[in-house]
Amino acid sequence: MTNILSNTTKRFLHVGCGPARKGPRTPGFGSDDWEEIRLDIDPSVEPDIIASITDLSPAETGTFDAIYSSHNIEHLYPHEAPIALGEFFRVLKDDGFLVLTCPDITSIAAFITANGLDTTAYMSGMGPITPLDMMFGHNASIRNGNSFMAHRTAFSRLTLQKALSATGFGSIMTFEKSARFELWALAVKTEQPRRDVVELVLKHIPGAESIRDRLLAEV
Ligand SMILES: C[S@@+](CC[C@H](N)C(=O)[O-])C[C@H]1O[C@@H](n2cnc3c(N)ncnc32)[C@H](O)[C@@H]1O
Repeated sequence: MTNILSNTTKRFLHVGCGPARKGPRTPGFGSDDWEEIRLDIDPSVEPDIIASITDLSPAETGTFDAIYSSHNIEHLYPHEAPIALGEFFRVLKDDGFLVLTCPDITSIAAFITANGLDTTAYMSGMGPITPLDMMFGHNASIRNGNSFMAHRTAFSRLTLQKALSATGFGSIMTFEKSARFELWALAVKTEQPRRDVVELVLKHIPGAESIRDRLLAEV
């Protein structure tokens, strides 16, 4: 088995990629060490594979070193999310890992309580984002006919951790980035030494460097 921290060329499946390609939007995967395979349900974003994350049958079992899922899993119905996580698990190699980020329903709810439902929470490249956009999908995109952008489920840190654990991932670390209303997770298919998992977190979770000492102290 290769070491999860080895630097030879590896392949990652970039699920729900949208127009994004590897680079600053895929932390840790931007280097030449990583070959990117893009997958999306929407043919207009020109993915390498057109598929839903609920059925990754175009991808063979145990063939990917990593999966990157950014603002994608919330587009599924609640009963579909475990199916997609199971598909991520299936296509990963035994020492492969998942990096996942999605909206954090807990910090969105806190923002709504303090500021109301239709207040701008932050400015994005797509314009102002309100709690309604974060909960139900980017309204302007959906209004323009892109129903692939609709959201149908949500997670708190606890439910995300539980869902990854129920899928069978051996090592899981989850983080709330409340200032950005986001959750982040790093989950390795098979249990690994915590120090190695922390090294992956430091590479792939934006902002983790700021808590490096705490993470390493827990090793
Ligand atoms: C909000 S965009 C995120 C794009 C990119 N990952 C990012 O973070 O900027 C959500 C993407 O998920 C895709 N998507 C929605 N449902 C999907 C599904 N069931 N399977 C695969 N992709 C899906 C959409 O087409 C869209 O490209």
